[in-house]
Amino acid sequence: MTEPILKGRKLVKTFGKVVGLNGADIDLYPGEVLAVIGDNGAGKSTLVKCFAGAHTPDSGTMELAGRPVEFRSTSEAREAGIETVYQTLAVSPALDISTNLYLGREIRKPGILGSVFRMLDKKQMRAESSQHLQDLGIATIQNITQAVETLSGGQRQAVAVARAAAFGSQVIILDEPTAALGVRESGRVLQLIRDLRDRGLPVVLISHDMQNVFEVADRIHVQRLGRRAAVITPQTHSMNDAVAIMTGAMTVDEEDQALGPVSR
Ligand SMILES: Nc1ncnc2c1ncn2[C@@H]1O[C@H](COP(=O)(O)OP(=O)(O)O)[C@@H](O)[C@H]1O
Ligand SMILES: [Mg+2]
Repeated sequence: MTEPILKGRKLVKTFGKVVGLNGADIDLYPGEVLAVIGDNGAGKSTLVKCFAGAHTPDSGTMELAGRPVEFRSTSEAREAGIETVYQTLAVSPALDISTNLYLGREIRKPGILGSVFRMLDKKQMRAESSQHLQDLGIATIQNITQAVETLSGGQRQAVAVARAAAFGSQVIILDEPTAALGVRESGRVLQLIRDLRDRGLPVVLISHDMQNVFEVADRIHVQRLGRRAAVITPQTHSMNDAVAIMTGAMTVDEEDQALGPVSR
């Protein structure tokens, strides 16, 4: 039996009197794209922020690859191999692509130049950035020294996803990665998501876009009122069903849910 790479049980997170998570469960299995959908305020971002180390849950448990984890910061989650791309575009527009990719974990020059003078090894970072972008099939970004502000929305998002893909060794979490993008650019990001999965990296994709979700997800976690209401698949349920579950108009019996991994 396949075990989840990422698992959350009975997670609770409150903000004063506001309940962000009210006993939420989540399972992500190796090699899958798990979409997380739900109305505004359902707790989607709060749920993934617990795994990104941005929030500490009040109670409940989290596991990564079968081991209990507690993250006190986003860098702890990153060190554990979880990379998150947030809704708000996580790139610095004035910096070039290569610098953006290595923001916060720059490669220093070897020897005393790097260790004492903190000099950056830009050549190495550019070479590696170029390789990462090629690996991901982002062939349209020709110049790795180009400022990110000169890129289109889709290309910027691609840089953010590329950064996550380059450093996320266990799990990639994308919170509304296509919210600000046009149809063609969204298509490119969706292709990136498939490429990541095909390279063996499981992906959590939060999205409002039902078309996108039904196109790319292996399983769909429906979040409602701070918890997991159901897990369905594009094969077993329609978009109308998904919306009905989101709003509480429809419930799904446990035996009809895709709580375990599904084959594609
Ligand atoms: N930092 C915060 N401070 C106060 N309330 C928050 C904070 N983050 C989220 N919330 C609240 O928690 C609930 C869930 O929010 P969120 O996880 O962002 O929902 P979603 O991503 O599904 O739209 C909402 O009621 C929201 O207002
Ligand atoms: Mg959100």
